[in-house]
Amino acid sequence: MKTSVPFQDLYPANRLVENAFLQGAAKLYRESAFSGGPYVESFEKAFGRYLGAPHCLGLNSGTSAVHLALAALGIGPGDEVVVPAFTFVGSAWGILYCGAKPVFADVEADTACIDPESLAAVLTPRTKAVIVVHLFGRPAPMDRIKAVLKARKGPRIALIEDAAQAHGAVWKGRQIGTLGDAGCFSFYPSKNLGAAGEAGAVVTKSAALAEKIARLRNHGQKVRYQHEMLGFNYRMDGLQGLFLEKKLVHLERMNADREGIAAAYLAGLDNPEVTPLDGGPGSAWHLFVCRVPRRKTFLAHLDKKGVGYGIHYPLILPELPPFQSRQGNPARYPNALALSRSVVSLPLYYGMPSEHVERVIDAVDGWR
Ligand SMILES: Cc1ncc(COP(=O)(O)O)c(C=O)c1O
Repeated sequence: MKTSVPFQDLYPANRLVENAFLQGAAKLYRESAFSGGPYVESFEKAFGRYLGAPHCLGLNSGTSAVHLALAALGIGPGDEVVVPAFTFVGSAWGILYCGAKPVFADVEADTACIDPESLAAVLTPRTKAVIVVHLFGRPAPMDRIKAVLKARKGPRIALIEDAAQAHGAVWKGRQIGTLGDAGCFSFYPSKNLGAAGEAGAVVTKSAALAEKIARLRNHGQKVRYQHEMLGFNYRMDGLQGLFLEKKLVHLERMNADREGIAAAYLAGLDNPEVTPLDGGPGSAWHLFVCRVPRRKTFLAHLDKKGVGYGIHYPLILPELPPFQSRQGNPARYPNALALSRSVVSLPLYYGMPSEHVERVIDAVDGWR
């Protein structure tokens, strides 16, 4: 009896830093450097340097990152913010937290990233920001997106990158996350750069934005107990700063490993009913996602073969109750809807044994 092929195993990546982290944690423990502080600051410097971003603000999650990017840009009631209809909900919560209106754009059928034409069609004089999601690690078409925003007459629209799934992804030689006004990262444990718990960050080249986010994450204060604005408690834990700085050293290697697995899938998968999404150049290969119109029977087949899988994501945002009343009929986003009903993510993680990759390929190619 063959062992099953898990969808994910985070331990191979976390094993790379196990000793260094545990030793560092013992020191941190004695110092009680638990909330914010030197370990977070050290990681912020390292991650900013890695990306080529002048400012990096460590936070408690990627959801908080998008929220504070919007809040620092002054987004509020009456403003519209465009977000793709097909993404993880964390891309969009921040719009509601700010009291603004989410406006959905469709995505491209073959990449699952925002469709620049759909984006152009939903802009209004009230559009204040666009959240571009580099979904599954694939860089969104930034030049076409920027051209749409530039062509729009009226006040400038802010560009926020949701790079929660795209640590180390590259667009025309530049790091994803550094191409707009703010880049938002999640370090949720399963991400390409995953923490030992919850964490996130915003990067920006704007000193003013960075300064505002620094205050917003810390109860709206710069000087202790002088709360100048509505604030939040969104600080990063010291332990996460420590862990992430140790792990960042391995990010390129881990991403190269993911790319190798994706390449093996692309070379080996040969089933006309299973179509991988276009990863494009520079992808961080967070997930390997295929479109499978007969998904239900395909999943039953994978179950039988002991192959794990994920569905990212089974519903689109306009279908979810917190968003339903705000933006009409899901049928207005046909590509997003079709993707949500057909996507299947195959196992892909740092350290996945090549024998497991082969077993996935055999299982997919053997399905009729
Ligand atoms: C595309 C995307 N945006 C936002 C988030 C939110 O990040 P977090 O879970 O750290 O709040 C995630 C991850 O969960 C994500 O995948």
